[in-house]
Amino acid sequence: MEQIFIELLEKAKESALKAYSPYSNFPVGACILYESGKIYCGCNVENASYGLSICAERNAMSSAIAEGEKTKIKAIAIYSPKQEMCMPCGACRQWISEFAISENETKIILENKKKEPEVLSLVDIFPYGFKFS
Ligand code: THU
Repeated sequence: MEQIFIELLEKAKESALKAYSPYSNFPVGACILYESGKIYCGCNVENASYGLSICAERNAMSSAIAEGEKTKIKAIAIYSPKQEMCMPCGACRQWISEFAISENETKIILENKKKEPEVLSLVDIFPYGFKFS
């Protein structure tokens, strides 16, 4: 296990503590390592008008773009204290695909039931994604 993946998951746990999730009571944190070596984190932010809520993953990717990040995603760690192996939703998978190095190279880091980081490739959870070509 690469040390950086362990660190990324720890940062995702810290981000989950910042979540604004009074409606679902389901906090999520996401932390992303880019090719530049920079790390950007996010948490879910809910709204009284439920559909306006934003997921932790898209929040983190939006922060990266807003900060001027131009490189691609090497790995993204996702964590919720409410669920082991907390998987990104379909919309977030499409977003990750947009900024991924490639389906095989970009890694998804989740905490398994043994409380250890589990490493998947984007292709494992999002094969045949939509792309302009
Ligand atoms: N959520 C995320 O932040 N990421 C996901 O990939 C799945 C769902 C959030 C959205 C909502 O605030 C809460 O989890 C329950 O759906």
